[in-house]
Amino acid sequence: MSLETKAEELLRKNRRVHRGHQYTVPSPDIYPYQWLWDSCFHAIALSHFDPKAAQEELRSLFAMQYEDGMVPHMIFWKKMITRPYFVVWENKRRSVITQPPMIAYAAWELHRRHPDNSFLEEIYEPLLKFYQYLIERRDPRDHHLISIINPDESGEDNSPRFDIAMGASSDISFFKHMYERNKLVEKNRTCDFNEELCMRDNFWVKDVPFNVILIRNLQALGHIASFLGHKQGEHFATQHAKLIRDNMRDRLFEDGVYWSAWGQNHEKIKIDTWAHFVPMFADLYTHAEAKKVVEKYFNNFNTLRSEFGIRSVSKTEESYRSKGFWRGPVWLAPQWFIYKGLRSYGFKEEAEWVKDTMYHNVESSNFREYFNPETGEAMGARQFTWGALLLDMKD
Ligand code: GLC
Repeated sequence: MSLETKAEELLRKNRRVHRGHQYTVPSPDIYPYQWLWDSCFHAIALSHFDPKAAQEELRSLFAMQYEDGMVPHMIFWKKMITRPYFVVWENKRRSVITQPPMIAYAAWELHRRHPDNSFLEEIYEPLLKFYQYLIERRDPRDHHLISIINPDESGEDNSPRFDIAMGASSDISFFKHMYERNKLVEKNRTCDFNEELCMRDNFWVKDVPFNVILIRNLQALGHIASFLGHKQGEHFATQHAKLIRDNMRDRLFEDGVYWSAWGQNHEKIKIDTWAHFVPMFADLYTHAEAKKVVEKYFNNFNTLRSEFGIRSVSKTEESYRSKGFWRGPVWLAPQWFIYKGLRSYGFKEEAEWVKDTMYHNVESSNFREYFNPETGEAMGARQFTWGALLLDMKD
């Protein structure tokens, strides 16, 4: 059976339906709920062979949208199985934080492959509301950089990019990190999840991947709004995509790359991670800059590139751990972002290499969550649905 057929099968096997809401679990063992950016990846993969299921996947995300527009990063459709080490997010079957806003991109890709005006119309208002929430509530000082209030909102839960804002040491253990994140959720409960207060007092990071992903998604939202003839929505989306892009350049760009920043003074967090590549996904580097990033970090096996893909954290960092959760291993979704970015800049050979390593990892591990960059050993959840993103890496 081809790997593509196996990926399609995995998406079907991990599909769940609860009272008419259809979604796909990231993995039946460790992740038996619905997650925001995972569902977007699933929808992108599904758009290649099952557009109806892709629509359902996005529809169910909006079913639990908050009044203010936030889409929760997790939905507990069925009773939550608490685990002693699980961060406790829950609030009425949905989590209290969000995740990288990939929904507009997924919806537009789906529409490009299988046009369905009525579906786009149906999700347009909730979609717009989500992006309005991010722009209005996550940037209280009008700096045009959007903030996350918890490391998990980045999708890279334990990344050392957040150590300084978390007060964590570079050798913090997985469990201690979990404990600290639980404490952060409790603190944010005390400020009632009021974004401005929680950011000021507890955790305030303007993360590069989150903002890059937002820019790309605002562009997609702009296309959707324009297609549907919603002039105001189109203006909102294109204007804010530009404002964030300009401000990332002004405040986050230094030494040829973009750095995440924390606190109200935008202090740069100078940790080398795969985030150096992600600006290519939204066309933030000039071609000459992208070439330098490729030379410095892609063509260099001592930093981000390993035999088994692009490391999440550079080998040169003190926090680098070849088996550490988001502290070194190769993760599949970042490979997909890097692949898309490299291709759009015309780095064809490099993009092919990323794709080939991803195929190799998925094939030899049968869809595991992440990989040791030094040995290729597969780790984490089994039957991990992100692997199906390879369906979106065809020419
Ligand atoms: C882990 C990952 C996160 C993902 C979730 C479900 O928490 O860090 O990015 O969304 O698992 O797959």
